[in-house]
Amino acid sequence: MVKICCIGAGYVGGPTMAVIALKCPSVEVAVVDISVSRINAWNSDQLPIYEPGLEDVVKQCRGKNLFFSTDVEKHVYEADIIFVSVNTPTKTRGLGAGKAADLTYWESAARMIANVAKTDKIVVEKSTVPVKTAEAIEKILAHNSKGISFQILSNPEFLAEGTAIQDLLNPDRVLIGGRETPKGQKAVEALKGVYAQWVPEERIITTNLWSAELSKLATNAFLAQRISSVNAMSALCEATGADVQEVSYAVGKDSRIGPKFLNASIGFGGSCFQKDILSLVYICECNGLKEVACYWKQVIKVNDYQKARFVNRVISSMFNTVSGKKIAVLGFAFKKDTGDTRETPALDVCKGLLGDKARLSIYDPLVTEDQIRRDLSMNKFDWDHPIHLQPPTSPASIKHVSVAWDPYQAAKGAHGLCILTEWDEFKELDYEKIYESMQKPAFVFDGRNIVDVARLRKMGFIAYSIGKPLDPWLKGMPALA
Ligand code: NAD
Ligand code: UDX
Repeated sequence: MVKICCIGAGYVGGPTMAVIALKCPSVEVAVVDISVSRINAWNSDQLPIYEPGLEDVVKQCRGKNLFFSTDVEKHVYEADIIFVSVNTPTKTRGLGAGKAADLTYWESAARMIANVAKTDKIVVEKSTVPVKTAEAIEKILAHNSKGISFQILSNPEFLAEGTAIQDLLNPDRVLIGGRETPKGQKAVEALKGVYAQWVPEERIITTNLWSAELSKLATNAFLAQRISSVNAMSALCEATGADVQEVSYAVGKDSRIGPKFLNASIGFGGSCFQKDILSLVYICECNGLKEVACYWKQVIKVNDYQKARFVNRVISSMFNTVSGKKIAVLGFAFKKDTGDTRETPALDVCKGLLGDKARLSIYDPLVTEDQIRRDLSMNKFDWDHPIHLQPPTSPASIKHVSVAWDPYQAAKGAHGLCILTEWDEFKELDYEKIYESMQKPAFVFDGRNIVDVARLRKMGFIAYSIGKPLDPWLKGMPALA
């Protein structure tokens, strides 16, 4: 029986290994982590992350060929294939701070593998890493190997949160990079054999190590660039009277462009896009490619601009101040169908409104009050370190923020309402009831283009939606920077 161990039981390690266990009954899969609370949760009825379909898969395999454990060394020792799926956040201090990927967790995992291993291992980079990381890992392993052979593979993960199980069951492609030596190719074939249990062969792409590592960063950069492109257009739409949804539909109909990832929004969030583009920018700079670095940096600049533009729109619409006004915030997760708030654009919007002294009442169907308060009190980039390594915060001290248990409670008595996550339930709310309960004039700012602004305007709302022709009320407002 082949034994797989995955170091890191997070959003990637947990679901990915659960699907491998489901599809490969003859493989024993152990997912290990240094976080005791995370492993306890994986072994309970309350899994540590929410993903549609995940619970079902875990329940089918857990205790049979899928195990969650804190005994990292035991499972590393026993495994034939070791996936490393630990955090690779943006560095917060030292050389490259604010841009470079922090490989501390990866390096400590590699050193531990070298210490514990007594037989040959295939070590798989599952985390997203800078190009050439495999070379560094190889050096660490080789210099500590005591005669054991380690083959490093790059097998980046392309799942998106909220659709992780579907993405894993039916991936566009699986990418495996390895050394072009006989041993390297044998390792590639071994990993290919695992995925071939359910992924059609033509969707399993094999490349050299550096192409695989770079393809992951490139894919995220291309995806984020599409969002910044449509968001840049949304600003021009508001200035000219064009409708961004009509524009993106027309653009996406061109089969060379395609319709996906063209939804204008308050900006992209999530743990990957910003971090990976910053890492790409840093790699370009280190290679002396200033223009290339500038090009990709602009994707992030436009994203920051879009969040700031939304905050400015809210404040300027409401007579240039939200000081002391109650603003209902619907949605805090970075996208629907997840409770993940890492780099959520809602955080920047909330901080912007709090900066103008608003009182916020926040509702999200999955994000807990503790999480919201912790996020609002955390420094940039601290969010992506394992929780026990994050600096202490004082969540209770976040003033002027309350967390509501339902959207109607959040909106009651509010002057304005901001939709920051595209949860389906926000499309179906009784907006007449909400309008009645709000201060007048009542404002709605739809940061996700999910409500029918024409209908809301008929009810009496002053309604704004990203990239849509402006409410007559807003037309007279000063132009936004
Ligand atoms: P995560 O924070 O959810 O999980 C990482 C886990 O690794 C944590 O539970 C942490 O405690 C554990 N860990 C850290 N160091 C460890 C060590 N030395 N030994 C054992 N456990 C250790 O992170 P994630 O979202 O699963 O992301 C993991 C990697 O996958 C990152 O490189 C990320 O860029 C990449 N990725 C993420 C996604 C996504 O959607 N979240 C998608 C594709 C790729
Ligand atoms: C992303 C990549 O899609 C995935 O392939 C990679 O493995 C990890 O990073 P994820 O961050 O989970 O996945 O979600 P994604 O669906 O890509 O959305 C990222 C952000 O972009 C969200 O905040 C989302 O709301 C936003 N977005 C997405 C838009 O604003 N408009 C769009 O058209 C699409």
